[in-house]
Amino acid sequence: MTGQPESSGILQPKRGITVVSNRGPVGFSTDENGQVQIQRSGGGLVTALLGMAQHVELSWVASAINDLEASWGTADLHLSEDRPPIALQLVPLSKEMYEGYYNVIANPLLWFLQHSMWDFITAPNITHATWDAWENGYAAVNREFAFALARRLKASQRPNLVMLQDYHLYLVPRMLRTMVRQRKQLTLTHFIHIPWPGSEDWGFLPAGMRQPILEGLTAVDLLGFQTREDGLNFLRTAETFLPGAHVSYGRGRISYRNRVTYVRDFPISVDVAALQRLAGSDDVKQLNAQLEAEIGDFQLVVRVDRTEPSKNIVRGFQAFGEMLELHPEHCGKVKFYALLVPSRLDVEEYQNYHDDLTAAAGWINARYGNSEWEPVRILTGESYPRAIAALQLYDVLLVNSIADGMNLVAKEGPLVNQRDGVVILSERTGARQQLEPGALVISPCDVYATAEALHQALTMHADERAVRSARLRRLVEENDINDWLNNQLETLNSLNL
Ligand code: G6P
Repeated sequence: MTGQPESSGILQPKRGITVVSNRGPVGFSTDENGQVQIQRSGGGLVTALLGMAQHVELSWVASAINDLEASWGTADLHLSEDRPPIALQLVPLSKEMYEGYYNVIANPLLWFLQHSMWDFITAPNITHATWDAWENGYAAVNREFAFALARRLKASQRPNLVMLQDYHLYLVPRMLRTMVRQRKQLTLTHFIHIPWPGSEDWGFLPAGMRQPILEGLTAVDLLGFQTREDGLNFLRTAETFLPGAHVSYGRGRISYRNRVTYVRDFPISVDVAALQRLAGSDDVKQLNAQLEAEIGDFQLVVRVDRTEPSKNIVRGFQAFGEMLELHPEHCGKVKFYALLVPSRLDVEEYQNYHDDLTAAAGWINARYGNSEWEPVRILTGESYPRAIAALQLYDVLLVNSIADGMNLVAKEGPLVNQRDGVVILSERTGARQQLEPGALVISPCDVYATAEALHQALTMHADERAVRSARLRRLVEENDINDWLNNQLETLNSLNL
C-alpha cells in the first residue's frame, strides 16, 4: 500500500486495504449496439465507499452480477484522472446461486428482518425453498467470496486489512478464518450499513440461520455499526443466542472461541469535497437549469430513493395529500418530485411496492391536480447528476424511512442545496442522531405529523430556514467519509489490531 499525502486527511494505512461487498462500485452492461456501458451503482454503501476510494488506494472485491462482469476477473478500474484506480475483482457466481442469495435470503429475508418490516402474521414463511436458498444460495455465495479472499491473501506478502461490508456477507469471516488459519497478519473488520434490531426480532430467525450469522460476525476483529444502539443490540443478540459467548457491554466487546471482537459505531457519511465538485460540474449545472425552468415559481418538495419499502414512499405521498387537504392554500403552489431508482424488482415485495407507490402518486394527482398543475411527479432512473441537481433545488427534502441504517440522501441534500431548504427526517434513521439539531424530525408512521411538518417547512420564515440549513451543512462537513475510515483505522491502532 502506498501511503497517502498528509493533505488527504486520511491516516496512512499500514497495510493493503481490501473492501468486500456484494454490490461493486460500477455495473457493466451492453447497449443495443453491443457497446459496453459502465454505470455507477446505486445505494448508500457505494456512495460512501466510492468517496473513500477517492482518497485511498483500494482493492475492491464484489459480485459479478452478469456474464459481462464475470469476464472482468481482476483489473484496475479507472474512474477519473483525479483519483487512484480501484483494483477491482468481480467474483463469478452462478445465476441459481445468486438468485437464492440475493432474491430470497439477503433481500427480503434479512433486509426485512433488520428494517423491522415483517408482518409476523403472514411473513416470513420459511419453507423448504428458503432453506435451499440458504444452503445453496447465501452460504454458497459467502463461500465463494471466502475462497476468492483466501486466494488473494495466500498470494500476498504483506499484512492485510480486509473490510467486509453489509448483510450479504455475514458468513464470510468465519469461513475465511478457517481457510487461512495460519495467517497472523490478517485483520478483519465488518461494517453493517443497515440497522441491527433487538434480540427479540432475531428470535424469529431459525437458529440454523441465526447461529452461523453470529458465529460469522464474531470471527472479525472489529465489528462496526452506524449507531451505538445497533452495536448494543448486536451484543444483546449474541449474549442471548450464542452459547459460550462472553459479552462486556462496558468495553464493547465479545469473546467467543478464543477470539475477541470489538464492537463500535462509526456513523458513515459522504465525500464532501467530491460531492461539492460534482455539484459544480457542467453536467449538474445543465440539469439544474432544466429542472429550475420546469419548476418555475412552484415550491419544490423532493425525495431521492431506491424504490424500497423501507423508504416509506407511499406514506410520504399520503402525507403530501393530507397536507393539501388540511392546508389547501398550497394547492397549485407546490410540486413534489420523487426521484426513484428502480431496485430489486425480482423480489415480489419490491414489485408490489413499486405498484403501490405509483398508485398512491396517481391518486393524489387525480384528486388534487388539474390541467395546469400535476402535484406529484415520479422521475425514474439511475442518474446521480440529476439527483444532485434536484437536491440543489428543494425547498423541502423528505426522508421519512420506516428504518434506515444512516440515509445518505439526508447528508447529501444539505451539502448541495442552494435554497436554504428544510429537511424533514424520520427519527428512525441513523442520520437523525447527527442531523436532529437542524431537521424537522418526524415519526415515520405518523402521516398527519409528516403532513404538518411539510406545511411547517413550506411556510417557514426565511431566517429560520437559513439558520437550519447552515447548521445541517456544518454538521455534514464536520464528519465526512474520511472520518469514517480514519476512525476505524484509529480504533484498530489503539487496540493493537
Ligand atoms: C443499501 C445496502 C447496500 C446496497 C444498497 C443498494 O444501501 O446497505 O448494501 O448495496 O442498499 O441495494 P442493492 O440491492 O441494489 O445493492
